[in-house]
Amino acid sequence: MTNFAKNILCIGAGYVGGPTMAMIAHKCPQYKVTVVDINHEKIAQWNSDRLPVYEPGLDEIVRAARGRNLFFETDVERCVREASIIFVAVNTPTKAYGAGAGMAADLQYWEKTARQIREAADSPKIVIEKCTIPVKTALAMEKILSSAYGSVRFDVISNPEFLAEGTAMRDLEFPDRVLVGSRETGQGLKARREVVDIYANWVPRERIIESSIWSSELSKLVANAFLAQRISSINAVSALCEKTDADVREVARAIGLDSRLGSRFLNASVGFGGSCFKKDILNLVYLCRSYGLSEVADYWEGVVKINEYQKERFVLTMLSAMFNTLAGKRIALFGFAFKADTGDTRDTPALCIAKSLVEERAEVVVTDPKALENARADLAGVERVAYEIDPYKAARGCDAIAVMTEWKLYAELDYERIYASMAKPAFIFDGRNILDHERLFEIGFNVFSIGKTPMAHA
Ligand SMILES: NC(=O)c1ccc[n+]([C@@H]2O[C@H](COP(=O)([O-])OP(=O)(O)OC[C@H]3O[C@@H](n4cnc5c(N)ncnc54)[C@H](O)[C@@H]3O)[C@@H](O)[C@H]2O)c1
Repeated sequence: MTNFAKNILCIGAGYVGGPTMAMIAHKCPQYKVTVVDINHEKIAQWNSDRLPVYEPGLDEIVRAARGRNLFFETDVERCVREASIIFVAVNTPTKAYGAGAGMAADLQYWEKTARQIREAADSPKIVIEKCTIPVKTALAMEKILSSAYGSVRFDVISNPEFLAEGTAMRDLEFPDRVLVGSRETGQGLKARREVVDIYANWVPRERIIESSIWSSELSKLVANAFLAQRISSINAVSALCEKTDADVREVARAIGLDSRLGSRFLNASVGFGGSCFKKDILNLVYLCRSYGLSEVADYWEGVVKINEYQKERFVLTMLSAMFNTLAGKRIALFGFAFKADTGDTRDTPALCIAKSLVEERAEVVVTDPKALENARADLAGVERVAYEIDPYKAARGCDAIAVMTEWKLYAELDYERIYASMAKPAFIFDGRNILDHERLFEIGFNVFSIGKTPMAHA
């Protein structure tokens, strides 16, 4: 058997655990990297040709490292015993019950994992929080781990993950920064160094930031809050643009060239989605409230409120443009994933829009190159929804198309062909501002985009 320099385990084989560990295994052939999950089906998929997560570049890396120094397993106890460094990347959704329901983080999976580690460990472990959790969670983790009868030593490290789905492999290979936080004791700093050493195999040293454990935990929540805040800011401005004949893309360009602001995350859209932004901001809001900081909580909650408003506004625009009734009309949703280059549909705006359209008695046809299976699961039991992988077929006979996801392929379609196959008058609602609106108008469409005066034929 090969002697590996380190034996690394990750508990949780999801969107974070799988890609992150694949990158460590790829960059560090001297380490054994194992990913374990209680979900046997998911592990079987990780061990197959059809991975449970779609990320450009992921398949190649997994194929090369799997069975060499990357392993996917289901026996949590054995894996914990064998590893000295344990990443925890389990899900931390918004709590759906009891105190803090709809706001606080649900830490049940995380706590179960801490207990599993404690029960199985018979040698010292470094336990790394990879999942996004409220600040001070490490304290609870330490308490649970140190409540064992034995004398096993545990050091808890915070190493939040900043990857974005759709660009996860690039983000992991060339991160803007890696953050490693620990207790500032001799033992804490030693454990911190061990984790820093892993990343130092491929990440330039100046991009590996060290901090206190509390700053590290809080930084992840704050990073997501700031990112989402930019989207809500430009989306709020888009509503005003629509009333004033300004064009949000021109406004975004003008402000983005200010070097103090920068140009990224200024695309107005139907709203942000994904499993993290809303959950992490609400988590931050809940934390602020629980510390009595109600003004701060209200400030951040506004980011989520604008996002909800943007989705509602989108449907109201469709309704008013289409003569105040959608009943019996066929509407194709172009895209269902919460963003391009992923099949992930968690908290996707498309779900909310699809449900609202069905409530208005429209017939909805969903198309997406990677997310149709998830769309079917998300909309299970919802009537008047059809699924079609081919966008041309999805649009055929429709009264309207609504672009939900910025897949490049939607910008490259033959819209003359699509227009010819649709009911008239034909409408396009570009929820991602990715289409050539002038050209579509020339073809004959009534064009509605975000943050721009509509182009409707009289
Ligand atoms: N998805 C992202 O883009 C992203 C980015 C950065 C950080 N995060 C954070 O990372 C964490 C994980 O997110 P994700 O998107 O990978 O979630 P996920 O739901 O895709 O994966 C979590 C996995 O953990 C497994 N799990 C739960 N309890 C377990 C246990 N006791 N033992 C073994 N496995 C267990 C689940 O079966 C699941 O497969 C969350 O805290 C999230 O906020 C996510």
